Amino acid sequence: MSIVTIAREGQIAIVTVDNPPVNALSQALRQGLWDAVEALDADPEVSAVVLTCAGRTFIAGADVREFGRTPEPPHLPDLVARIEAARAPWIAAIHGSALGGGLEVALGCRFRVAVASASLGLPEVTLGIIPGASGTVRTPRLIGVPAAVDLITSGKPLRAEKALTLGLIDAVIAGDLTAGAVAFATAALANPLPEPLSTRPLPPEPDAFWESQTAAVTKAAKGNHGPLRALEAIRKATESSFDEAMAFERQTFLDLRGSDQAAALRAVFFAERGATRPAHLGEAKPVAIARMAVIGGGTMGAGIAAALRDAGLPVTLIERDAEALARGIANIRAIFEGGVKRGKLSEAQFADRLAGVTGSTDYASLAKTDLVIEAVFEDIEVKRAVFAQLGVACRADAVLATNTSYLDPRALEAEIPNPARFIGLHFFSPANVMKLLEIVPTPATSPATLATAFALAKQLGKVPVAAGICEGFIGNRILKRYRAAAEALLRQGVAIAEVDAAMRGYGFAMGPFEAQDMGGLDIAYLQREGARASGQAVAETLGDILVRAGRKGQKTGGGWYDYIPGERKPQASEEVARLLAAEITAARTPALSTPLSREAIAETLVGEMAAEGDQILAEGIAHQASDIDLVEIHGYGFPRWRGGPMHARDRKLGKV
Ligand code: 3HC
Ligand code: NAI
Repeated sequence: MSIVTIAREGQIAIVTVDNPPVNALSQALRQGLWDAVEALDADPEVSAVVLTCAGRTFIAGADVREFGRTPEPPHLPDLVARIEAARAPWIAAIHGSALGGGLEVALGCRFRVAVASASLGLPEVTLGIIPGASGTVRTPRLIGVPAAVDLITSGKPLRAEKALTLGLIDAVIAGDLTAGAVAFATAALANPLPEPLSTRPLPPEPDAFWESQTAAVTKAAKGNHGPLRALEAIRKATESSFDEAMAFERQTFLDLRGSDQAAALRAVFFAERGATRPAHLGEAKPVAIARMAVIGGGTMGAGIAAALRDAGLPVTLIERDAEALARGIANIRAIFEGGVKRGKLSEAQFADRLAGVTGSTDYASLAKTDLVIEAVFEDIEVKRAVFAQLGVACRADAVLATNTSYLDPRALEAEIPNPARFIGLHFFSPANVMKLLEIVPTPATSPATLATAFALAKQLGKVPVAAGICEGFIGNRILKRYRAAAEALLRQGVAIAEVDAAMRGYGFAMGPFEAQDMGGLDIAYLQREGARASGQAVAETLGDILVRAGRKGQKTGGGWYDYIPGERKPQASEEVARLLAAEITAARTPALSTPLSREAIAETLVGEMAAEGDQILAEGIAHQASDIDLVEIHGYGFPRWRGGPMHARDRKLGKV
């Protein structure tokens, strides 16, 4: 069947695109639409054309899979211009998403109508590029420069109502979209047609406008080049002819398409999509989950409960006594109060979120629960006792999960009958915000339990990554290597602040030492001490020296740095220099003969992360390199536009 078909309703032609899964603008689709314009232009009976799409969405954009190849005609900018120049006006009838090239095709149409649930946007900057088919040139002519700057530099889609307010669409259609679009077309033909966008004037903006926008966009982009390049293209559109601006946009688009950032962001785009349906899941079907419980209402338990409520799932919170339960409920309430304060939740939503949380100290209340997530103290005996009680209180088919960071989940499944329904679900803090979910099956975990964990991740809007069992799973294991490598640099004579500055320069929000000061050095210290107590040989770290001197981070007024009370700005610490002097001057590794550049520091540390990733892959702890990249990006603040440590290293080696 053809991917573009034409039907007729009186004088109105209906062009339907059917190119699953998302009607992306492959060469075949561009050609199909081009042929449709030609055919309809040649038919004098046709007075208007409604462009609609089959399946779940309108055209979702250019075909990202074609980005690695030489572009083949008809090129998208030419197609958009051809639609605009058609004899009879085209009307885009939008459902699902009109994104990127999809919205640009709609901008070539004389009118745009959409159902209320539709979203419209120009997300190109999230792929390291800018709109390449007139998005930066036609959009400001339709909705004005400030709104176009927001839409294009943020890459965030708009809902139909907002698009209507801005003038990006002409009507929101209730009921059947095609029928509504045909009725809209019929009515529109009774009036003079609006000018095509390419001929509408676009007055320039003052320099001060561009200066303030440049500052704001640079700050928000956090190292991603696309938004600033898009801003330049929009400015060009206001200061030159339509054709000149189109040529500038196209050149910028083509330059960026082959850039390292675009390659990285594309790789992450496909890795994220692959992550929700990994091949190792096989055909297993998830079990239905409607009733959830969380054990422990501390930092993680409260965050997990909030994440479940945000997805509409009812939650029972179990704590060890009435007092702890009241604290746990207060922790959850505080998260939602934060949502109200930031304008993310209405009062009604706040009430609904809390109404869905039931507190209890009695495991008997879990008799009907489908899935339980344990988040009590990181203490094997405490956790064992919890699972022993869950084993008695829950249905034999209820899925039982642990949020442990480091403990071996196999020690816990032994406490329950039917360990096939046991699994590790490792959330990251704050659990209602962080996107990563490490899913840790044991050899006993059934395929259905694994599938259920992935289905839950999808329901919660998380990025799931399967991890095998080892200390720290994927993320914390790499973190340990990263921190050790950062300490090794200090021993070679690199300054603490220099390492942090290098990693910030690379794109992290914080360097490894300031991040430890924020989270506290004591957690990892206690974990090392625990391992030492159990007879493991764990090397002394520089962090150990600081913790023993009472420097646990910001909460104790100092860690790797000093802090002025009430402030978060790290200050170089003389005490730290004194405490570590012996370790650094008696360097166990050879001191550097020439100082390392910040680029070299970052490359060293990222290289260490990737080397640990190689080991993790070789041991079968991760299924694929892109999973490791997702862990780092969504759990540890690795800059998305670098693609993750594995991608960044492989790109440098010319392998990807
Ligand atoms: N090109 C190629 N494949 C695409 C694609 C695209 N633009 N968008 C989605 N796909 C594929 C996905 O990889 C996935 O494939 P798979 O089934 O083999 O894994 C499949 O379509 C379904 O995608 P999702 O799982 O994401 O489906 P959802 O229903 O959850 O979401 C969507 C649909 C909102 C359209 C989402 O896919 C999306 O945001 N897509 C990207 C849209 C985009 O970025 N467009 C701009 C492209 S750049 C451009 O247009 C440049 C232009 O200016 C010249
Ligand atoms: P926390 O100390 O903030 O909270 C633990 C909660 O468990 C407390 O509210 C406590 O009252 C409750 N609790 C203890 N024993 C209990 C019992 N027998 N029955 C019911 N409730 C009980 O600890 P946090 O930070 O929330 O950690 C919880 C788990 O999550 C740990 O296993 C930790 O390793 C893991 N984790 C922690 C992360 C973090 O960043 N804090 C990140 C990812 C996982």
